[in-house]
Amino acid sequence: MSAELVRAARAVQQRAYCPYSKFRVGAALEAVDGRVFGGCNVESASYGLTICAERMALGAAVAAGARAFKRIVVATDAEPPASPCGACRQLLAEFGLDLEVIAVGAKSERRWTLAALLPDPFVPASLGL
Ligand code: THU
Repeated sequence: MSAELVRAARAVQQRAYCPYSKFRVGAALEAVDGRVFGGCNVESASYGLTICAERMALGAAVAAGARAFKRIVVATDAEPPASPCGACRQLLAEFGLDLEVIAVGAKSERRWTLAALLPDPFVPASLGL
């Protein structure tokens, strides 16, 4: 149920470390086996080192052995709800384009597939290995 995933994303959003942008982002990534992995943005005084919430969630998932995913909820206080940045789209694409992406903001939500957010993607098969 996505209400549960939204709650998980909102909970981890509260733990965002974002003293520079003050833009809190929480992500909850649901694996096909039902496990949910959370991530928040982590900023640095060396600004360019910042890591987004979505990539933190993906890293936690992969570190726990999950590689197949159903959905990701990205929670912000923005309106319209903020969609994942290009770098996060690309890293998520590594694990499949069928992922459902749900952005929840201050008042509304938006939904896409990752395929719709990242047309003509560079994917593992693009390497032709
Ligand atoms: N941010 C994310 O966590 N995810 C995104 O998809 C876009 C941006 C973070 C990075 C930075 O800490 C803050 O939002 C403002 O860019």
